Amino acid sequence: MKRIAVLTSGGDAPGMNAAIRAVTRCALEQGWEVFGVQRGYAGLVSGNFQEFNARSVGGIIQQGGTILGSARCLEFQTEEGRMAALRELRQRDITGLVVIGGNGSQTGAFALSQMGVSVVGVASTIDNDLVGSDITIGVDTALNIALEAIDRLKITASSHMRAFLVEVMGRKCGYLALMTAIAGGAEVVVVPEIETTPEQVAQGLRAAYERGKAHALVVVAEGAKYNAEALVSYFKEHSARVGFDLRSTTLGHVQRGGAPTAYDRILATRLGAGAIAALANGEESALVGMLKGAVTATPLSEVVGVQKPIDPELLLLARVLDK
Ligand code: F6P
Repeated sequence: MKRIAVLTSGGDAPGMNAAIRAVTRCALEQGWEVFGVQRGYAGLVSGNFQEFNARSVGGIIQQGGTILGSARCLEFQTEEGRMAALRELRQRDITGLVVIGGNGSQTGAFALSQMGVSVVGVASTIDNDLVGSDITIGVDTALNIALEAIDRLKITASSHMRAFLVEVMGRKCGYLALMTAIAGGAEVVVVPEIETTPEQVAQGLRAAYERGKAHALVVVAEGAKYNAEALVSYFKEHSARVGFDLRSTTLGHVQRGGAPTAYDRILATRLGAGAIAALANGEESALVGMLKGAVTATPLSEVVGVQKPIDPELLLLARVLDK
């Protein structure tokens, strides 16, 4: 009988629980034993394992966050930390590991797979910055949360003829900002992949007023050179010349909380099931993601350290629509 472990790592993403549930129940269906690891790689290093049965993952598909807890573990980034993790797995005869997480977590997964453990990653991050998956677990929920905020901000912005700046998460990836801007009808979007100067932002907002709008909205990715802080300080400094009032809202971790949408639950369930299928097929180092509508395993060596490019057609579309 095979023994596997599952962990969640990095920033939590809505839908991680649905993935844990699918991994556990599909593994049990194979006749395997499953262990949940608490607090990501930190739990792997310190041996914080708990055997799971079907009931251990009952009633969680609708919950945000992760029942396993998550962490950013510095110790695992060292050779000693990874050796300690390997020892903990070997002591329990665990030969397979499922890592539910984003970019940094999959880098750790790759390192472990090089040490003789079969590791399969599940693409899970609100940043959508992983190649190997067109869309990652949590993005849809985070996007919907950002949109709810934007719809509300537009109402108050219109009442006061104000400009609003909304900063969204995403690390160095502008996907969340771009999609929020398109779906939220923003006038300007600022993404890390393309430098946009404060003066260009001011021009975009000014043009919206000149076209007769009662509000103007700019969505900014946190990883952009001119993020919310930089733009607000520029607008303060040049307020007389800019000629309008700018208010700023940083959505921050609000985007990561909340119940997963139907889309994220189904995506997470399919990718979780795909991870077990990949292990059953003998994959030793792969990321399971959704590519062109199909659950696909991509070698981790082709995923780690690779930057996902922003879609230029979507950027163009955002510019066409901001009239
Ligand atoms: O990677 C997910 C993410 O939410 C990023 O968008 C954000 O930059 C980061 O995590 C925040 O990390 P932390 O929760 O450790 O502050």
